[in-house]
Amino acid sequence: MRSPGFPGTLLLLLFLPTALAFKAPDFKTCSQSGFCRRGRALSARAQESSSSWHSPYSIDPPEFLALTPRSPGFTTNVHSSIHPNVKFVLDVIIHEDGVVRVRMDEVDGLRKRYDEAAQWALVGEPLLSSDVHWKVDAKKAKAVFGPKKDMELVVDFNPLKITLFRGGEEQVVLNGRGLLHMEHFRTKEDSKPAEHIEGEGQSVLQVNPAAWFEGDAQDAFWDETFSTWTDTKPKGPESLSLDITFPNHAHVYGITQHATNLSLPSTTGPTAKYTDPFRLYNADVFEYLEDSPVSLYGSIPLMHAHSATSTVAVFNALASETWIDIAHVEKGVETHWISESGILDVFLLPGPTPKDVFTQYAHLTGTAPLPAHWSLGYHQCRWNYVSSDDIRGVQNRFDEDDFPVDVFWLDIEYAEDHRYFMWNKKTFPDPVEMTRDVEAVERKMVVIIDPHLKRANDYPVYKRASELGVLVKPKSGEGEYEGWCWPGSSSWIDFFHPGSWDFWISLFKTKTIDGQWSWTESTDNVGIWNDMNEPSVFNGPEITMPKDNVHYGGWEHRDVHNINGMLFANHTFQAAEARTDPPRRPFVLTRAFYAGSQRFGAMWTGDNLGTWEHMAVGIKMVLANGVGGMPFAGSDVGGFFGNPEPEMLVRWYVVGAFSPFFRAHAHIDTKRREPYLLDEPYKSLVRDILRLRYSMLPVWYTAFRETSESGVPILRPQYMMFPEDEAGFGIDDQYYVGSSGLLVKPVTQKGVKEVSVYIAEDQVYYDYFTNHAHRPKNRHITLPANLDQIPLLIRGGSIISTRERPRRSSPLMKHDPFTLRIALDNTGNARGEVYLDDGETYGYGRGDVVWRGFGAESVKGKGKGIGMVRISSVDLAAAGTEVGAYNPGNEFARSVGDVRVEKLVVLGLRKKPSSVALESGRELEWEYALEGEAGVLVVKDPAVRVVDDWAVVVKLE
Ligand code: NOJ
Repeated sequence: MRSPGFPGTLLLLLFLPTALAFKAPDFKTCSQSGFCRRGRALSARAQESSSSWHSPYSIDPPEFLALTPRSPGFTTNVHSSIHPNVKFVLDVIIHEDGVVRVRMDEVDGLRKRYDEAAQWALVGEPLLSSDVHWKVDAKKAKAVFGPKKDMELVVDFNPLKITLFRGGEEQVVLNGRGLLHMEHFRTKEDSKPAEHIEGEGQSVLQVNPAAWFEGDAQDAFWDETFSTWTDTKPKGPESLSLDITFPNHAHVYGITQHATNLSLPSTTGPTAKYTDPFRLYNADVFEYLEDSPVSLYGSIPLMHAHSATSTVAVFNALASETWIDIAHVEKGVETHWISESGILDVFLLPGPTPKDVFTQYAHLTGTAPLPAHWSLGYHQCRWNYVSSDDIRGVQNRFDEDDFPVDVFWLDIEYAEDHRYFMWNKKTFPDPVEMTRDVEAVERKMVVIIDPHLKRANDYPVYKRASELGVLVKPKSGEGEYEGWCWPGSSSWIDFFHPGSWDFWISLFKTKTIDGQWSWTESTDNVGIWNDMNEPSVFNGPEITMPKDNVHYGGWEHRDVHNINGMLFANHTFQAAEARTDPPRRPFVLTRAFYAGSQRFGAMWTGDNLGTWEHMAVGIKMVLANGVGGMPFAGSDVGGFFGNPEPEMLVRWYVVGAFSPFFRAHAHIDTKRREPYLLDEPYKSLVRDILRLRYSMLPVWYTAFRETSESGVPILRPQYMMFPEDEAGFGIDDQYYVGSSGLLVKPVTQKGVKEVSVYIAEDQVYYDYFTNHAHRPKNRHITLPANLDQIPLLIRGGSIISTRERPRRSSPLMKHDPFTLRIALDNTGNARGEVYLDDGETYGYGRGDVVWRGFGAESVKGKGKGIGMVRISSVDLAAAGTEVGAYNPGNEFARSVGDVRVEKLVVLGLRKKPSSVALESGRELEWEYALEGEAGVLVVKDPAVRVVDDWAVVVKLE
C-alpha cells in the first residue's frame, strides 16, 4: 500500500482499515449509543402519549424569581417532578444585541457537570441588555426587548417552556415538546431501576411517571461496550436532552460537519431521509460517505432556521457527543438534541435576517481574522513530497510550465519516525535551505504537525511534555494515556492544561531560547498543518480516545471531545504568531474544529474520494461551514483517495478556484497528479483556472476583509443573498462570492455541456468570459459549460477588480495594475470595492490600508436612454472608521502608490459613447462594441492610481 522508503509505517497499516470503503462498524449508530437510545426512546414515548403527559420540569412560584422589571434576566430554581430532591438552577439573560442565553445546571449534586464549553467558544463576556421590560404573573415571565420592541421572550413556569417571539410570531421554542431532561448525578447503589408497574386500566405513565419518563431499563447507565471497547462511565448517566422547535421556519442549516445537503433533511418522521440523527462527535472517518448524517472531523452546534420573513439561530454550547434529530413538520421544523454530558447552555440568536444572525454569532464567537494574503493563492500538497529535492523539482516544474502557485506542503513523511518537528535527514538533509529556495520566489511552505507524540525519550517534544506532566491521562487519572497513531505508540498533549501553552509556543521558536529545544530548522514563514486532531487514535474506540480518559481539571474526555481539536489549532496559531516580532499573521490549517475555530485559521473537509459525488458534496460542506461561522474552508482538489480522470480533475480545479481555501492534495497511494503532468488540453485548462484564481485574488481578499469584520460568509448560497425568495432556500450547488456579485455554478458531473443557473431577481447578469448580457427567463439562465467553460456570471450592479498579469506567486502581484469590470444593472448603475494591505502584518489595525469604493452612476439623457455614466473611485477607509486610525497617505498606501488602474470594461451600455474622459479633463482611449444585447466599452489605460480619488465620464449624447 505504501511507497518504498517508509517501512516503519508498515506496522501501522495493521491498524488501518483494509477494505477501501467506509467502515460503518467502526462508528456507532444512535442505537449503539446508550444515551442516544435513551433520548430517542423518550421522544418516541412522548409522541405516543402526546396529550396525556407534560414535561416534569417547572419553575418555582414567581415570588422566588429574582427579577427586577428592567434587569437583563433572572436566575431561578427548577424542579423536576420525577426527582423532587434534585436541584436545578436556570439563568435566562438577554444580551445587548438581543441574543438570549439560557443556562441550566444541576446544583448541590453529587458531582459537577462540565460547564466550560462556552468559555472556549466565546470571545468574551457579552454585554447585557439594559433595555428589557419584564412582566411576571403566576404562570409566566415575559420580557419585551429589541430596538423595535418587537421581541418577546416568554418563560412558562409549569411546565417549563421558553419561547422567543418576534412581532407576535413564535420563532424558537425550547422544551415545547417536553423532551428536556438533565439526567442528574446518582450513585450506582441509589440508582434502582424504576418500577415498571401498570395498574389496572392505567398506563406506566399514570402509575409511575419517573419510570415512564426515564425508561425502566437504566439502559447503559454505568458502562457501555462498543465492539471491543468498554466505556467505564465512572460518573454514571448525565446526558442532556432538549427539544428545540422552529414552528414557522421550513429550512434549517448548519450543525456542520456532515456530508449532506445545505438545507438539512429530516432524520425522523414520515419525511426522514436518514434513519439516524445527525451526529456531532469529531471523528476521523476513513472514506466517508458522500451523503450521510455520520459525524466527521469537526462539530459546530449552531443551527440556522430560515423562512421568507425571518432567520433565527440556536447555538447549543456543548462539547460532548451530540445527536440531533430533525423533523420537517407542517410549517416548521422540530429538532431534538441529545448530548452525553455538560450543562444546558443555549444561545437564541434573534436575527431577523441571515446577516443579523451572522453578526450576532460573531459577537459571541468572533470572526475569522484577515488571513495572510498568500494563503489565498494555490496550495500544492501531496502525501508526500519525499525529499528536499522533490520539493525543488516540483517547484521547477511549476515554473517551467508557468503554473502559478504559492505554497508547497509537507505531509508526515518529512518527520523522522513521525516525530513532528524532527526532519528525516536522509531525505531532507537541508530543510532550511529547501524552505528558503521556495521562499526565494515569494512562496511559502506549510509543514504538518500532528498532535500525537511518539513515546520515545530521545524525542525532545515528548520528553519535555512528559516531564511537565501535560499529557492526557488514562481513566485512572495517573500516568500517560498511550494509544496508536502514525508514529506507533503515542501520547497526546492536553491542551486544556495551562502548563502546555508556553511549552507549545516555545517549540515553534526558530531560535533557541533558554536552552530549550525548539524548531530551529524552520523559518518564521512556515505555515502549520494540524491534522488528526479529533484526535485520531488508530486503536481507540471509534478511532479516537476513550471517553473515560482524563484531562486537566479532572474532566473526562467525553466532556471535552469536540473542543479538543480546536485547542490544538488555537495554541498552534498562537505559537506560529509568536515566532515573529512584530507579529505577522500565521497560517494554520486544521481538520478538527468547534465553534470559535474560525479565529485560528482554515479548515478542509478531510479525506474525500476522487468521485463526482464527493466533488459535489464538498461544495455543500464548505457552504455549511460558512453557516457555522468558519469561512476559510475548502475540500481537497482531485479528491484525497483515487486517481481522478483528467476531466474530473479539471472540473475539480474550478471548484477549488472558487473555494476560499484552494489546495490540491492526494493520498500516498495515488499517482502523482500535479497539474504539469496533465496532457493537453487539460494542462492548459488547469493553467487558465489557476490564472483566473490569481487574477481574482483582489475579490477574495476583499471578501475576507468583510467576513473578518461581520462574520458573513465568503461563499453565499441563495438563501443568504435572497432571504425572501423561497425557491432558492434549498439550492446548494451555486453561490455568490462575498459581496462581489460573482455567481458561480461549478460543474460536478461528467460530460456536462451546459448548466442552468437559478436567478432570484429580474436583473441582468453578464457572462464573465464573453460579456454576454443574460436576462433570466423563468428565473433561469442557461450557460454553455463544456470543459473549457466555467459557468461564472457577474450580477448587474457590480464592479469586479482583478489583476490580470500572470505571475508565479501572489506576492509578485503587489505592484500589478487593476482591471475594473463595471457591470451596469438594469438602471445603469454599479458599485464595488477593493481592499488592499501588506497582506502579512497587522498594520491594517493601524490603518495601513487602501480600501477603495468604485461606483458607476448613470444620468438620464434627453431621450429614454442613458445620457452619461460617471465612474468614480472614493476612499472607503476614510468613510468607514472600521480600520482604525486611518491616514490616506499611510505607509502601505505609499508603497503601492505606483499601482494603476489599467483598464475599465463597462458592460451594459446600449449605445456607443460620444466621448470618454477623466473628469479632470484628459480624453481617454476607448473601444466600443455591441455584443449581444449589451454593449461593451473598454477604456484603455486611464492611468489613474488605485490610491487616488478619480472619476471617468462616459458621455453618450
Ligand atoms: C489524514 C489527512 O486527512 C490527510 O490529508 C493526510 O495526508 C494524512 N492524514 C497523512 O498525514
